[in-house]
Amino acid sequence: HAKYRVAVIGSGNWGSVASRLIASNTAKLPSFYDEVRMWVFEEILPTGKKLSESINEENENCKYLPGIKLGANVIADPDLESAVKDANMLVFVTPHQFVEGICKKLVGKLRPGAEAISLIKGMEVKMEGPCMISKLIADTLGINCCVLMGANIANEIAVEMFSEATIGYRKDKEVANRWANLFTTPYFLVSVAEDIEGVELCGTLKNIVAIAAGLVDGLDMGNNTKAAIMRIGLREMRAFSKLLFPSVRDNTFFESCGVADLITTCLGGRNRRVAEAFARNGGKRSFDELEAEMLHGQKLQGVSTAREVYEVLTYRGWQELFPLLSTVHEICIGQLPPTSIVEYSEHTPNLS
Ligand code: NAD
Ligand code: 13P
Repeated sequence: HAKYRVAVIGSGNWGSVASRLIASNTAKLPSFYDEVRMWVFEEILPTGKKLSESINEENENCKYLPGIKLGANVIADPDLESAVKDANMLVFVTPHQFVEGICKKLVGKLRPGAEAISLIKGMEVKMEGPCMISKLIADTLGINCCVLMGANIANEIAVEMFSEATIGYRKDKEVANRWANLFTTPYFLVSVAEDIEGVELCGTLKNIVAIAAGLVDGLDMGNNTKAAIMRIGLREMRAFSKLLFPSVRDNTFFESCGVADLITTCLGGRNRRVAEAFARNGGKRSFDELEAEMLHGQKLQGVSTAREVYEVLTYRGWQELFPLLSTVHEICIGQLPPTSIVEYSEHTPNLS
């Protein structure tokens, strides 16, 4: 039997937790090598020490996941090429804006036959149109790439509170099951769905709805309003996904990647939290400024995703079909005040 070697590309909040989760399994399962290499985007800590060195000395990511031991078999590596050397299972988990540059550096460096999975929630918009992150990885590197999405606030998984996730795959169920095997623990239940676009779009689009939910919180509008925003958002997520990819299935929205991730992110995510602060400041301080101040190096995905989706909507003439998705972007760039998040609803179109 072939033995699999895993590398994790990314070491932020979810990247660190995913490494810890995976390493707990590779240490136990005979089909995987114990060691998990985790690529670290190097930075110098206030102490003057390099982040990667600190992780290896303390077995802890003091910047992005303080207080949690990663497991002795997690090895931080600031050199991308050396981190992926010999790995045949690659886990991509960086903020989506960095993945294209990282993939370009990896061209020609991967072991033949390597498989990838993306835990990244976001999309890119190219001249040719929208491109999902898993496709960007697959096309740039010429490898197969699954996705793992779900209601997965990293800090909760770090302390092993029960949650679920969904792996989206295209055709090859055996590969999807191998990934599920790598990630599943008694507190992290993973299922597989043959709807890669649906699963990835759920994870991507809910970040825009989370911004809307945060605005509602910042305006002290109450639970009914927030639930309404979540429902309208979910309906737009489904309609947008199906317009882009007619193969997307309704059932996917009932998996962890769909309604469950929408709920947890609208209740407890970073996009929600920063959007709440944005509304409390009456839109006078920018998202970039609040992100830097509140998240200490962690990154929001919802603001840039709203812009990317807006580009698709305007280019295709779909803007009026998606008032919530459009309004979030217009609020983020200061074109509309935060209160507009509930003012478009009387014009809500009748999406199927
Ligand atoms: P994060 O936001 O906590 O951290 C930001 C990361 O980006 C850090 O590792 C930082 O070193 C790195 N970085 C900064 N500048 C960079 C550059 N120029 N090039 C490369 N890397 C750079 O990261 P995260 O929470 O691990 O998020 C990664 C992905 O996982 C995102 O798409 C996010 O939506 C998704 N996700 C996050 C969570 C969560 O709870 N944190 C849960 C599920 C999914
Ligand atoms: P935030 O980036 O808004 O914290 O969302 C995390 C997430 O994706 C939970 O599944």
